[in-house]
Amino acid sequence: MFEYAPAPESRDIVDIKPSYGLFINGEWVEPLGEGRDKTINPASEEVLAEVAVAGEADVDRAVQAARKAFTVWSAMPGSERAKYIFRIARIIQERARELAVLESLDNGKPIREARDVDLPLVAAHFFYYAGWADKLSHAGFGPSPQPLGVAGQVIPWNFPLLMLAWKIAPALACGNTVVLKPAETTPLTALAFAEICRQADLPPGVVNIVTGAGETGAALVRHPDVDKVAFTGSTEVGRMIARSVAGSRKKVTLELGGKAANIVFEDAALDQAVEGIVNGIFFNQGHVCCAGSRLLVQESVAEELLDALKRRLSTLRLGDPLDKNTDIGAINSAAQLAKIRELSEAGEAEGAERWSPTCPIPDKGFWFPPTVFTGVAQSHRIAREEIFGPVLSVLTFRTPAEAVEKANNTPYGLSAGVWTEKGSLMLWMASRLRAGVVWSNTFNKFDPTSPFGGYKESGYGREGGRHGLEAYLAV
Ligand code: NAI
Ligand code: MG
Repeated sequence: MFEYAPAPESRDIVDIKPSYGLFINGEWVEPLGEGRDKTINPASEEVLAEVAVAGEADVDRAVQAARKAFTVWSAMPGSERAKYIFRIARIIQERARELAVLESLDNGKPIREARDVDLPLVAAHFFYYAGWADKLSHAGFGPSPQPLGVAGQVIPWNFPLLMLAWKIAPALACGNTVVLKPAETTPLTALAFAEICRQADLPPGVVNIVTGAGETGAALVRHPDVDKVAFTGSTEVGRMIARSVAGSRKKVTLELGGKAANIVFEDAALDQAVEGIVNGIFFNQGHVCCAGSRLLVQESVAEELLDALKRRLSTLRLGDPLDKNTDIGAINSAAQLAKIRELSEAGEAEGAERWSPTCPIPDKGFWFPPTVFTGVAQSHRIAREEIFGPVLSVLTFRTPAEAVEKANNTPYGLSAGVWTEKGSLMLWMASRLRAGVVWSNTFNKFDPTSPFGGYKESGYGREGGRHGLEAYLAV
């Protein structure tokens, strides 16, 4: 393994305020209650800023501002709305380095990923949906599709700014207005986005950002003047949201968890498959809903593939997320680390064999080494439950039919990967896998033009692409 000198990205480019209010009607306002929360850097446990906790009355103010702005925004020609959204996309590109550093600090993800994956995709999403704003009558949803009204959007902490983009860009393009609640551990890029809305001269109230935890999210979801709820997060909270809106007129999209199978056949290019497996489960510390957390490998090549995988994992660098050489950053929170530890201990207790490369762990912050479990049975918790960490469960199969059966043996159905040189086998597999996305000889590839979403407990509705417009239109 090569020794690398430290190559830290400078954090001077970001200007974090000691304390943030709520962004309502285009202004920064103080919350009506006393509630304050802190957001930390999970790599150092250092407090980055104090953030307001929005109560029910604050959420109500934000929804009212969005309601008022809806009159203006929805009446604007699509070509005018597009100008604002294009402007937002360009400002994001101009400020990409700053936003990438801020995301890495608040979330713990490696700067290399924030810089090369998150930020380019965030900008691409706004560009893509800006392009739809004046073409909605050609999107296949009737000659004159109408917006829904006020969208209440709740997002998670794994891709904070990217999930904001997935939610806000299509909502605005379709003529809706938004109240968005970021996750409590990663509010800072959403608050920076509020500044970007001001910079873009977006009419006040079109985008409102309210910070806080689950209670704030619940208040937003149940607010009677919200027309559309969009949520990404845990299946458990997704269920609560589905119950909360049941019987109301609210339209809902839920993007929940996953337990994706990454399936490697004996004829696959194994070195490429190894890279795909690493990207599938160790990208973003495995905090990825569509992560390839179950490796299904054909028995005849299992040993060879696992040897190659372990060699590759021994070269991964874990540590300072702002170092440009870092591959594995910090786990986002103490709570998430506890969950990963608990499930990994369950894996050992149930009889699977645990392996990690030797890898120094920093003293401060939340860390978990890349981990591989072999000898995993389908009944094991680590084969069934979403770990949402850098932990891979390996199972084997003999025939394509067995691979399909094992891959589909999960309550989830968000994504899958298939590695084979044979086109016919690829298509045979893809038509049988119950997963919203099936990647062919690759994994974790995203593009704003491509719809994303799940089957079964992975949720309902699609985000991205032309399909993603439907969730924000009365069709
Ligand atoms: P969570 O579902 O509690 O949090 C996601 C968002 O929902 C946050 O903004 C949170 O404040 C909000 N929220 C929490 N309770 C709410 C409620 N009752 N009503 C409305 N909003 C509410 O997820 P958490 O606890 O951070 O992570 C737990 C597990 O969920 C993870 O270990 C992982 O397995 C899964 N998860 C899946 C994600 C995905 O992308 N599908 C993202 C984050 C977590
Ligand atoms: Mg944080």
